[in-house]
Amino acid sequence: MSPLRIAVTGAAGQIGYSLLFRLASGGLGDRPVELRLLEVPSTLPKAEGVAMELLDSAFPLLSGIEIADDPRRAFDGADLALLVGARPRTADMNRGDLLSANGAIFTEQGRALNEAAGADIRVLVTGNPANTNALVARVNAPDIPAERFSALTRLDHNRALAQLALKTGAPVTEIDRLTVWGNHSATQYADLTHARVRGQDALDLVDRAWVVDDFLPTVAHRGTAVIQARGASSAASAASATVDAARDWLGGTPAGDWTSMAVVSDGSYGVAEGLVSSFPVTTSNGRWRIVEGLDIDPFSRERIDASVAELAVERDAVRQLGLIPS
Ligand code: NAD
Ligand code: LMR
Repeated sequence: MSPLRIAVTGAAGQIGYSLLFRLASGGLGDRPVELRLLEVPSTLPKAEGVAMELLDSAFPLLSGIEIADDPRRAFDGADLALLVGARPRTADMNRGDLLSANGAIFTEQGRALNEAAGADIRVLVTGNPANTNALVARVNAPDIPAERFSALTRLDHNRALAQLALKTGAPVTEIDRLTVWGNHSATQYADLTHARVRGQDALDLVDRAWVVDDFLPTVAHRGTAVIQARGASSAASAASATVDAARDWLGGTPAGDWTSMAVVSDGSYGVAEGLVSSFPVTTSNGRWRIVEGLDIDPFSRERIDASVAELAVERDAVRQLGLIPS
């Protein structure tokens, strides 16, 4: 079996340090992997150290490691690009502050993907602000189909699963049909309307006050809570969610269930076309499809609209910065 060529940006960062080892140890399945570690020039020595440790782990599935500071080299012929490298938010920053700090990285990487990536490329953006970075990369890679770009909201999905599991006493494996809508930010909406716990409607098992006053804020502000507790943004859980998202994108979601993935909107559920927004999606053989026809109650509508409005503001901001055309 030919190896899956995976480029990981920000390879020497916190998330990279967990993600690379998960990828090399079979996180995406039993296909061999070739890892391309992209870093900025000043951090290449650290990336060399990570590569040494990957080698020292003698992973049976790891067929090659390359280190680069040139995105064209890292993306050359790549099948999967995990765009993690970006400046993380610190306690005094909001996601808006990140747009100007990080937008330029994704302009350059979008262009490099357009020039160099393999014909089957899938691009998953973890670096924040993830949805809008994915938009910037996509617009700067006009020859790559729009559906090959996504942004990570799987961490929010996993956080929501875990909170509902804690509350109901059910294992996460017994919960399905949960959706995170919108932006990977505090405006996101973790929707339990269609979720089931052991086949029963989740909303029959928990009271509304818990959903509104406890569940939704806990999930939406979890990133901030982790930053406050650790003094650094979430890393191992973000790496784990990145692996989950990539594995499901390439391999498929289980029958009867769906996952949450930020993808380019086709106008479904009233989300403006072109925004990279989180939706309920099923995946199969490297393709995703938005789950259509779900009822959206007025409370959910308001929450989805608020998060989508934030995405439109971010899009307008990157337009003004000249990162995407008007
Ligand atoms: P980190 O600072 O530990 O590592 C980032 C790495 O990226 C650094 O090594 C840096 O040198 C590198 N980098 C910067 N610019 C680069 C470029 N142009 N090309 C290649 N590498 C580059 O940060 P981290 O904790 O690993 O987080 C990475 C990103 O992921 C941040 O933006 C963070 O906010 C985001 N994040 C997203 C989620 C999510 O769910 N979507 C969750 C957690 C963190
Ligand atoms: C997270 O959700 O943990 C990250 O996006 C970090 C952050 O800035 O909230």
